[in-house]
Amino acid sequence: MNILVTGGTGYIGSHTCVELLNSGHSVIIADNLSNSRIEVISRIKQITGRQIFFYQVDVTDEEAVNSIFSSNRIDGVIHFAGYKSVTESVIKPLEYYFNNIVSTMVLIKLCLNYKVNKFVFSSSATVYGENKVPFVEDMELLPPKNPYGHTKVINEKILTDVAKANPDFSVAILRYFNPIGAHESGLIGESPIGIPNNLMPYITQVAKGKLDKLKIYGNDYPTIDGTGVRDYIHVVDLAKGHVAALEKLKKGVNIYNLGTGKGTSVLQLVHAFEEANHIKIPYEFVARRPGDIAECYADVSRAKRELGWSAERDIIQMCKDAWRFEKNNS
Ligand SMILES: NC(=O)c1ccc[n+]([C@@H]2O[C@H](COP(=O)([O-])OP(=O)(O)OC[C@H]3O[C@@H](n4cnc5c(N)ncnc54)[C@H](O)[C@@H]3O)[C@@H](O)[C@H]2O)c1
Repeated sequence: MNILVTGGTGYIGSHTCVELLNSGHSVIIADNLSNSRIEVISRIKQITGRQIFFYQVDVTDEEAVNSIFSSNRIDGVIHFAGYKSVTESVIKPLEYYFNNIVSTMVLIKLCLNYKVNKFVFSSSATVYGENKVPFVEDMELLPPKNPYGHTKVINEKILTDVAKANPDFSVAILRYFNPIGAHESGLIGESPIGIPNNLMPYITQVAKGKLDKLKIYGNDYPTIDGTGVRDYIHVVDLAKGHVAALEKLKKGVNIYNLGTGKGTSVLQLVHAFEEANHIKIPYEFVARRPGDIAECYADVSRAKRELGWSAERDIIQMCKDAWRFEKNNS
C-alpha cells in the first residue's frame, strides 16, 4: 500500500515509517517540522534502504494537503501530526484545539473526496481519565483533565461519526500507552525540544549530564513504591502495531490499546535504566503534578486477538535503546 504518514518525521511516526517500509509498503510523509528535524528522512532511508517522499506542509492547510492527494495514489492515511504536551495544552488551548482537530478534519475530508478508505489515528490512554486499571477499550471514557486529552476524545468522536455515515470508511483508533526507547540502530529516537515532559528523555538527559537530576513528581501515590505507574512500550513494538492495524483493518471503527499490559513505577524504570546502562541517575521527589493519575496500564487482549500483535521488547531493552540514541545524538 501507499501510505500517507502525517507527522512522519516525529518520534512515533519515524519508527512507523521504518516498519511500513520493512513490510513492503511505500511511504509519503507530510510534516511541517514543528517538532522534528529534516535529517530524520535520510536516517529512515539509511535504515531501510528504501526511497520515501517528503512534503513539508502543515496538515491544517487544506490546499497544500489537497495537492499531495491529487498528485499521489494514496491507499491509507496514518495521522500522527499534532501537538502532544499536556502541560503546554493548558497554556495554549486554542493552538492545541486548532492544530489537533483541524488537521484531522482536513485529512478526513480529503480522504472522502479521493476515496481513500483506510484511516489510522494516534489516540492516547489519556482518554480513559481516572478509570480503574487495566483500561479496556469498551470502558466509558471519563472527562480528560486538560485540552490535549479533549482533542483526542473529540477526534475519536469525529472519526466515529464519519465512519457511521460512510460505511466504506474504515478507521483504526490506536490508544497508545507510554512509548519509550528508540530504533536499535541508534539513528532515530525521541529528541524533544527544551526540557522534556516525558520521563525517559528526562532520564537520558540526566544520564548525559545535560540536566542535574531527575525530578520525580509525587512519592505518595497508592502504588507499589509511591511513585506513578505507567505502561511503557518500546516504540518499535508500537510502530509494528500500526502496520498490523493497517493490514488487518476491518470496516467501521476499530479501537485498540497499544501497550504491554504491565505497569512499571517511576522508581522501577529509573532502576532498570541504571541496571541496563550502568549509570547512576540522581533524583529528588517533588510535589505531584496536577492532572497526573496514580496508575495507567492497558488490557491488551483485543489487539492480540484481532491483530495478532503484542509487544515483545522488555523494559531493559527499552532503556538500552533509549540510551544508545541519546549518546549518539544531540
Ligand atoms: N509520545 C507519546 O507519549 C504519545 C502518547 C499518546 C499519543 N501520542 C500521539 O501520537 C502522535 C505522535 O506523537 P509523537 O510522540 O511522535 O510526537 P512528535 O512531536 O515527535 O511527532 C509529531 C510530528 O507532527 C508534526 N506536526 C505537528 N503539527 C503538525 C501540522 N499541523 N502539520 C504537519 N506536521 C505537524 C511535528 O513536526 C512532529 O514531527 C501525536 O498525535 C501524539 O498526540 C503520543
